[in-house]
Parts: sequence; structure tokens; C-alpha cells
Amino acid sequence: MRRIELGVFMPVGTNGFLMSTTAPQYHPSFALQRKIATLAEEIGFDFLFSMGKWMGFGGESGFWQKTIEPVVMSSALASITSRIKLFATINPLLLHPVVAAKMIATADEISNGRFGINIVTGNTLEELEQMGVVPQDYGTIRYDYADEWLTVVKQLWSQERCNHSGRFFQLSNCVCDPKPIQRPYPTIVSAGLSDEGLQFAARHSDYQFVGARPEKVLEVKAVAAARGRTVKASGNMLIVQGDTDEQALKRFNHIVAGRDEAAFSNLIESFERDQRDSSADRTSFLRNPRMVGFGTGAPLIGSAITIAEKLADIIVTADFDAMQLTFIDFVEDLRSFGQEIYPRLKSSLATYGVSLGEGPASVIKAGAHA
Ligand SMILES: Cc1cc2nc3c(=O)[nH]c(=O)nc-3n(C[C@H](O)[C@H](O)[C@H](O)COP(=O)(O)O)c2cc1C
Repeated sequence: MRRIELGVFMPVGTNGFLMSTTAPQYHPSFALQRKIATLAEEIGFDFLFSMGKWMGFGGESGFWQKTIEPVVMSSALASITSRIKLFATINPLLLHPVVAAKMIATADEISNGRFGINIVTGNTLEELEQMGVVPQDYGTIRYDYADEWLTVVKQLWSQERCNHSGRFFQLSNCVCDPKPIQRPYPTIVSAGLSDEGLQFAARHSDYQFVGARPEKVLEVKAVAAARGRTVKASGNMLIVQGDTDEQALKRFNHIVAGRDEAAFSNLIESFERDQRDSSADRTSFLRNPRMVGFGTGAPLIGSAITIAEKLADIIVTADFDAMQLTFIDFVEDLRSFGQEIYPRLKSSLATYGVSLGEGPASVIKAGAHA
């Protein structure tokens, strides 16, 4: 039976992924992430996924005003969980490959082989420009840079010594010890939608995160297959659950009514400064007046029965291998998801011959790692 993995897209920034004054207003804290991680593991989720973000986009809701660092946060979560996998986003521009290789190897030990990375080349250039780290022509070399960075990191993980003389990095007889527990490497995800992004995934990644773009899934797989590799595809969706379909829609409409237009404009403006085809793609998504955030994934609105059926249908129709979910209230909605949607989703997927994890029992079986 084909197995689908379910994840939580962790709310590591102010207000999670919602840009609305009528959505819950909060800053990310470790206490919140810990609560979500524990709950997600109990329910039977397979992974927790954290983005990398370095600035906010203002507005009345103060969208992403505060963001916590994903490698540190995920490592801390690793020590209080026992089964769930953890993915932390890294932009190669911001970490020397030797430092990154050792940090991830360390996190892999803390997690007993449950750590993974999501490689990004930067969402809005502004957040990298504020640090003064953007190389000239970054627009055209970003994937070359990421490619060389990851090639070096992989060598550090798999070889006793790394000698590398490249365009961006020079390493001589360089050592990374300890190695990660996962051999040959921890799981690698990348996120991007361009041809270059898909080619990068085909060369390096186990998964490509395509966000709210189900039509990209088959392309990701085809590009990888042309290189003789298998790359799985993951997406994201916003779960808006109510007791009935009508109540769920009312809940969603309430969030739409509080859309933080200033935050939306700031984000669109920031994307427009980065002249990539995928930026135009994303700004058109943001211009949709029914969108309530960024990074939410497409909203899935309804009762538990409706959501379970629709989610199963979307996963199967698009051929997703993994789906990471966002919520309006990451604690209460996640709890309801576990009680009311997860079992139904499992049954709905089974009718297509697709399986989910074992659920809570597998947590008990695995126990705490030594
Ligand atoms: C689903 C998705 C998630 C992403 N997550 C992040 C992120 O957390 N941090 C970041 O800086 N960039 C992120 N990016 C930006 C990409 O890594 C990439 O730099 C951007 O999409 C431009 O490349 P592209 O033209 O290949 O899409 C994400 C992109 C996508 C499509």
C-alpha cells in the first residue's frame, strides 16, 4: 500500500501563516512549539516542518514580526519527542557548509536519526539584503551556489576528509566528525518551483516541497525520473474545521473579513523586487481576496467528514507523497484534527489503497530513545 506522510507546518513566526487581525494573534514561543509537537506525535503525524524566516512584513497584525530559528528549535523538539521526524529550513547563503554539516549531524544524533533539512535559496531577497550577504548576480547563481554548498555538505557527511576547490568554497583536508546517524545522509527536502529548482531537487533531494501547487507534483517526479532518481513531493493546506460545513465557512469568512491588507501589500512588494517567474506566481496567489495568509496552503473548509474526504481526494489526485498542514489555532484545531479528521482521513485514503501512519500505538511501541 502506498504510504502518505502527514506533517505539521510549524508556526515559527508571529501569527503562524495567517495575515488577518481576526485570526488568533500570538508570537511563536518554544512552549507553543512543544505543545504542538507532543500533540502531533500523539495523533500519529509523521513530521514537523519549520520554515526559515528573517524578517516580518508589518501591517496591523505584525505578520512574522518575530520568527524563531528552525534548527535550534527542531533540535530542542527532538529531545522531547521519540518518533516524529523533524525538518528545519536552511538557506545555504547563511551558514558555512562545515558549520551546517556539523549542526545537522549533531541534531541527527539528538533526534536518533529523525532530522532532515529543507534547502531554500530565499523567499524574499529583502531579508537577505538586510544582512548584506547577497552575492552579485544572486538571481542567476542561487541554485549553483546551493548546489555546490550541498555537494560539499554531502562530502563532509560521507567522507573522512573533504577536499574541495570550487567556485564558492575551498576546503582542504576538512573534517566533519561525528557523521550523521542516517546514512548516507539525513533526509533532504528542497523548496522551489522553477525549472532550476526542480533540477536541483532531481540532483539532490528526497522530497520537493511545492506548497499549494498540486499541479507541480507530477513535474517534480518526471524531472527526477529523467535523471534516474525518485523525488517525492510534499504540499501544504490550511485546515478550517467546523461542526458543519456552514459553520466552517463562517469561521473562514471571519478571518477573511480581518485580512491585513497592509501586510499583504508589503509581502507582494517584497516578492516583486525579486524578479523570478515563481515570484509572479506567488504574488498572484496573494492577490486573491480570499487568501488569508502566506504559507498556509490552500484552505480546506468544512466539517470533519468533508475535510477528510477532500484531503484524501487532493492527496491521491495530485499524487502527493506528503502533506504538511496549517491551522487557525495550532493547538485546538490540531487536537480536533486528531480526534475527528485523522481516523476518517485514514479510512478515506484506504479506499484509494493509500495508507497513513499507524497512529498513536506506534508512539507507544517506539518508546523514548536512549
Ligand atoms: C513551498 C515553498 C516553501 C519555501 N520556503 C522557504 C522558506 O522557508 N524560507 C525561504 O527563505 N525561502 C523559502 N522558499 C523559497 C525558495 O527556496 C526559492 O528561493 C524561491 O521559491 C525561488 O526559487 P524558485 O524560482 O525555484 O521557486 C520556499 C519556496 C516554496 C515554493
